[in-house]
Amino acid sequence: MGDRRTRAPDMEHSSGIRLNGGDVGRAAMPAGDNGAERSPLLRKDWRYIDKPELDDLTAGEWALLQKQRNAYYAEQQALQALRFLGAAEHDASFGYQINNYRHCLQAATLAHRAGEDEETVVAALFHDIGFVACPDSHGAFAAALLANYVSEKNIWMLRHHAIFQQVHLAGVHDHEVDPEERERWRGHPHFDWTARFVDCYDQRAICARYDTAPLSFFEPMVHRVFARPPRRLIVD
Ligand SMILES: [Fe+2]
Ligand SMILES: [Fe+2]
Repeated sequence: MGDRRTRAPDMEHSSGIRLNGGDVGRAAMPAGDNGAERSPLLRKDWRYIDKPELDDLTAGEWALLQKQRNAYYAEQQALQALRFLGAAEHDASFGYQINNYRHCLQAATLAHRAGEDEETVVAALFHDIGFVACPDSHGAFAAALLANYVSEKNIWMLRHHAIFQQVHLAGVHDHEVDPEERERWRGHPHFDWTARFVDCYDQRAICARYDTAPLSFFEPMVHRVFARPPRRLIVD
């Protein structure tokens, strides 16, 4: 896949592409060939591919999709990540003073006020975005969300932060909790940073009285991080 930052060019002169829906706006639900409602295109000058099966697409149609998708990602990825997080704003808590949404904002606020760099603040904001949807893998969930845009240090931290939290659970009698599990990575280049993130921000972000910044405060940071040229780095 090419650079997602590539903006969709004027495709008026492409061949083999149906022009249905050229004037479609956000609110419109244009009918396709069989009268079925199609989702509106993001931009008025984009085109639909009207074939119902991917195997039937031509090279030209794939090229068009690629260009439109690159522009779509550039504009929509940060917005969708913010919507994921924002959807949990009014969720109930399972026992902490604050819900997971406020915990994420509070961790990010603590990181920001401690002078951490912007991508770290954004990593803190999203570090538990999957905490309820996929609890056992929520670190990997957050790491995957940001992997193309933040440093290896923060990808590794996101992936492993839940394991590093277990050192704080020495008094918990649960056969699945091993307070020493993080020792497997002692000496790893990102061990100290992950331990500091957990100790300084994650562990301290459950206070209802804390003056937590609102999501709107972090939105420009999120957009700037997702606007970085995407990398293909995969960290194991
Ligand atoms: Fe977590
Ligand atoms: Fe957390």
